[in-house]
Amino acid sequence: MPELSGKHIVLGLTGGIACYKAAELLRRLQDAGATVDVVMTEAATGFITAATFQALSGRPVWADTWDARAPNRMAHINLARTADAILIAPTSTDFMAKLAHGMADDLLSTLCVARGAVPLLIAPAMNHEMWTHPATQRNARQLRQDGITLIGPAEGYQACGETGSGRMMEAAQILQALVAFFQPKVLAGKRVLLTAGPTSEIIDPVRVLTNRSSGRMGYALAQAAAEAGAQVTLVSGPTALPCPDDVTRISVTQAREMHAETLARAPNTEIFIAVAAVADWGIANPSAQKLKKHDDDAPPVIQFVPNPDILADVAALPAGPWCVGFAAETEHLHEHAQAKRQRKGIPVIVGNLAQQAMEAADTELIIFDQHGAYPLPRQDKLQAARQLISWIAAHLPA
Ligand code: C5P
Repeated sequence: MPELSGKHIVLGLTGGIACYKAAELLRRLQDAGATVDVVMTEAATGFITAATFQALSGRPVWADTWDARAPNRMAHINLARTADAILIAPTSTDFMAKLAHGMADDLLSTLCVARGAVPLLIAPAMNHEMWTHPATQRNARQLRQDGITLIGPAEGYQACGETGSGRMMEAAQILQALVAFFQPKVLAGKRVLLTAGPTSEIIDPVRVLTNRSSGRMGYALAQAAAEAGAQVTLVSGPTALPCPDDVTRISVTQAREMHAETLARAPNTEIFIAVAAVADWGIANPSAQKLKKHDDDAPPVIQFVPNPDILADVAALPAGPWCVGFAAETEHLHEHAQAKRQRKGIPVIVGNLAQQAMEAADTELIIFDQHGAYPLPRQDKLQAARQLISWIAAHLPA
């Protein structure tokens, strides 16, 4: 099911060159299943026309408080009472100031004051001097205190030719923030620790022994846990993935480092999810210099030492976190996963077929506990992660 299916979003636009990004945002909101009504300030109509948004949304665009198309002449009340959220992107310096003072001198500001319990999210967009101005920063603090969610702004090149903080976030990031906002906060107040990615065991300065893991599943779970309101720490092996918002990442290379960083943090967490594909063996005799290849040489002899089992060691901690392991198997998934769950002394293990999940964008997970198996449908890893997090929240011992 699309992420915003059944949601009614009021998309507000205020004056700013970033209005051009709002057309793509509208498209993305619709692709995510939302019904979108667009409300523009007069300044916004100076940057982009209402016709663009009417054509894209297939719905009337609202700009005038006295719009006669609303039979009761109360567009602000009609929109406010049906919206699941109001999202203003771009939000100008001036509009932030208006919001901070509860002003209501046009349709969009009136709608915001009349919104009652409807959540308001804003994506600021302005020149960096305007963003860092003490008055704007004061307003931003006030808005957060009033329960308004600020999305960004981002740093970078600005339309005025200057560089700094104040750029509007990209449409995809704003959509992601809105989807995250709607996730049930089932892990509020919980601390979640995860491992993710492969580990890289050093053979010499240019060679490593590693596993074929992209880290996507672990990163998706870290994101889903953060969206669910948890305080999340992700101990990650080498991956190319960006750290999810509101997640603290500790980057490691070898399994021993991952073990040390994880064990140092585990006693202070409620939930540990071990997703990393940890190398089973480390290199006993790493070379300080690159091993050279000569035609007449025998290949180098690499000696292995077993790596510590991070998950089993966390599970053995007295008063340690509730542990969820992963089992990537190539055959006999049910038998191997349940055997692994018991061997490691953990309440839950999540199994998948390695050949289907490795480096892929989607996955088909099966959750195993002492009572049996709970299969999840084949789906995108982030959707699977959100389902798994809600299962974890429902089964976490009180
Ligand atoms: O033993 P195996 O590697 O198959 O177990 C997989 C599970 O154990 C995963 O959750 C993985 O993150 C965890 N693990 C670990 N430390 C290891 C090996 C595996 O935490 N050294």
